[in-house]
Amino acid sequence: MCGIIGYIGSESAVPVIVAGLRKLEYRGYDSAGIAVYEQDGIKVIKRKGRLAELERHLSEMTIKCSSGIGHTRWATHGEPSDVNSHPHMGSSNKVAVVHNGIIENYKQLKERLEKKGVDFASQTDSEVIAQLCEYYYNGDVLETLIKVSERLEGSYALGIMFHDKPDMFAAVKKDNPLIIGVSEHGNFIASDVPAVLNHTNKVYYLNDKEIAVLYKERVEFFNFDRERLDKSVETVTWSMDSAEKGGYPHFMLKEIMEQPKVLRETIASVKAVDNLDISCYNKIVITACGSAYNAGVAAKYVFESLCRFPSIEVELASEFRYKDAVIDEKTLVILISQSGETADTIAAMREAKSKNAVTLAVVNVVGSAIAKEADYCIYTAAGPEIAVATTKAFSAQLVVLYTIAVAFGTKLGKLSDVESKLLTEEIVALPEKVAAILDDLEYELQKYASTCIGCKSIFFIGRNIDYAIALEGSLKLKEISYIHSEAYAGGELKHGTISLIEDNTLVVAISNSERLYGKIMSNAEQVISRGAKVLLIGSCAGQGGDNAQDSDKLSSIALPECNPLFSPSLSVIALQLFSYYVAANKGLDIDKPRNLAKSVTVE
Ligand code: AGP
Repeated sequence: MCGIIGYIGSESAVPVIVAGLRKLEYRGYDSAGIAVYEQDGIKVIKRKGRLAELERHLSEMTIKCSSGIGHTRWATHGEPSDVNSHPHMGSSNKVAVVHNGIIENYKQLKERLEKKGVDFASQTDSEVIAQLCEYYYNGDVLETLIKVSERLEGSYALGIMFHDKPDMFAAVKKDNPLIIGVSEHGNFIASDVPAVLNHTNKVYYLNDKEIAVLYKERVEFFNFDRERLDKSVETVTWSMDSAEKGGYPHFMLKEIMEQPKVLRETIASVKAVDNLDISCYNKIVITACGSAYNAGVAAKYVFESLCRFPSIEVELASEFRYKDAVIDEKTLVILISQSGETADTIAAMREAKSKNAVTLAVVNVVGSAIAKEADYCIYTAAGPEIAVATTKAFSAQLVVLYTIAVAFGTKLGKLSDVESKLLTEEIVALPEKVAAILDDLEYELQKYASTCIGCKSIFFIGRNIDYAIALEGSLKLKEISYIHSEAYAGGELKHGTISLIEDNTLVVAISNSERLYGKIMSNAEQVISRGAKVLLIGSCAGQGGDNAQDSDKLSSIALPECNPLFSPSLSVIALQLFSYYVAANKGLDIDKPRNLAKSVTVE
C-alpha cells in the first residue's frame, strides 16, 4: 500500500504536499517524491528512503508552484530506489503519475509499448501507467484516462499531471481508496482523510470508473461515458488533532491510551443490525486478515456461547477468497476490517456475494470499499488509527462483535431479556476496566518488558478464548519488536513445539477462566520444568496456585475480573503495552515497522 496526494490552489504546493505525505507515511515509507509544474513543464523530485530524505533534498531547492502531486511508497514491484520511486513520468516528460495499487498486466503492457519504441526507466508496474497515458495523450484528458483505465488490470488510485495543463490535474481509481478534499484555498486528492484534515473536513469519495478533474476553484467529476457527475460532498467527523501524536512518543502509545474513550464511543454508537434477522441463516462465516482475523477468532467463542449457533467458521480472507466455500443465501458472512480496504478481505466479500451470501461488515473507515459494498455495515468509532500495529480499532471491533452476539442470542431466544441486559451491562463496564489497566499496570508491564530485550523467541499460550488473544499478543509483538513469536492453544504446545523451549525462553500464558486455570498452570509447569520463564496474565493470575515449583521463573500480572467471554478486551491491553515497551526498549520505529503498511491493499 502507498500514499498519494495532490494539491492545486493558492498556496505554495510543495509544503502542502510534503505535509500531506507526512500524514500518509504510515501507508508506506520505502521512498517519496513529488511532481510540480514549473515554467518549463513538469519537474519530478524523488528519493529512496523516508520522507525526511526527500525533505532534505527539497530544502536545497527553491520551487515556486501552486500545484503538484506526491507519493510515499511501499515497494511491490522493483526494489526501493530513486528510479523506482514515484512520481513516474512518460519518456517524453509529458505526463507524471502517482499510483497506489498493483497493475497485474503491466508486463504485457510494457512489452507492447517497448515494441512501439517506448523506453522504460524503472522496474515498477506503475511506470506503465505514465507511459500509457503519454502514449494515448492527444490533449483530451478524459479520453486518455478512459482509454488507459480500460487497459489496466489490477488495482489503482492515480494522480495524473499533463505537461500542457498547468491549471489542473486529474484522478481516477479502481479498488483502491481516493478522496477529493475541497478547501477555501485549493483542492486535494489523497489516499485517505488524515492527509487533508488540517485544510478541510469536506471531502468527496471517488468511486470506481469515475474521473475527478481538479482546478484551483472547482472540481469536476465525470463517468467513463464522459457525463458530468453531480457528487455530494461529505463532512468528515474526525478531528485534526486525532491524527496528531498529542505529546506521546508514538501514535501507537497514544492509540493504546485512547482505548477507554474509543470503547465508550463505540459501545454508545453501535446499533446491532436490527433489520438483519439472524434466524434466516444456518451458517456464519467470519473472515478477515491479521488482527481483524484474531478478533474473529475471539468472536467465534462469544457467538457459540451466547447464540448457541451450530455452524460458525472463522476463515483467513486470503484463504476464503480461493476456497470455493460451501455457502449460499442462508449464510451470513461477517467481514472485519479497520481500513475497509484490505484487498484479501474485499475479495472475500465479493466471493461471498457471488454466492448470494449476505455480508455484514465491521469497519472503521467511513466510505471505504468494504463499508460501501457490504449488505450491512457497523462502524467502529475508533477514529483515525495511524500506527501500523492496530490497537484501538482492534478493541473497538471486539466490543462491536460482543454486541452483535448479544443481539443475535436474544433474537434466537438463547438469551433471556435479563441475561441480555446483564451482558450488555458487562460490555458497558469494560472501558473503565481498560482504564484501570492503563493506569495501574503500565509501569509493571514496562518493567517486565525491559527484561525481555534479549529474547530471541517468545511464545504466547491460552485456552479457549484466551487462545484468540494469544494470537493477537504474538502478532503485536512480532510486528513492532521483530522478535520471533508463536501463539499456541495451551494444550497444544506439548504436541511438538515444546521441543523449542529452552533455558529462559519466555512463555506468556493468558488465563481468565477459573474453569481452565489449573490446565493453563500445568502448561506453565511443563515449560518451566524445561527452563522457560512464564509471564502469567489474566484475571486468574496472582492466585495462590501461581506458586509454580520454581517461583522465580513465574511472574504474574493480575487483570480486573470480567465475564471471561469479554476478557479479550482486558488481556489485549496488557499485551499491547508489553509489546510496545519491548519494542521501545529496542529503540525501533514503532509506528512504521519495517516491511509493513497500515492497510494491505494488494494481494
Ligand atoms: C495489525 O496490527 C496489522 N496492522 C494487520 O495485521 C492488520 O490487522 C491487517 O492487515 C488487516 O487490516 P484491516 O483491519 O485494515 O483489514
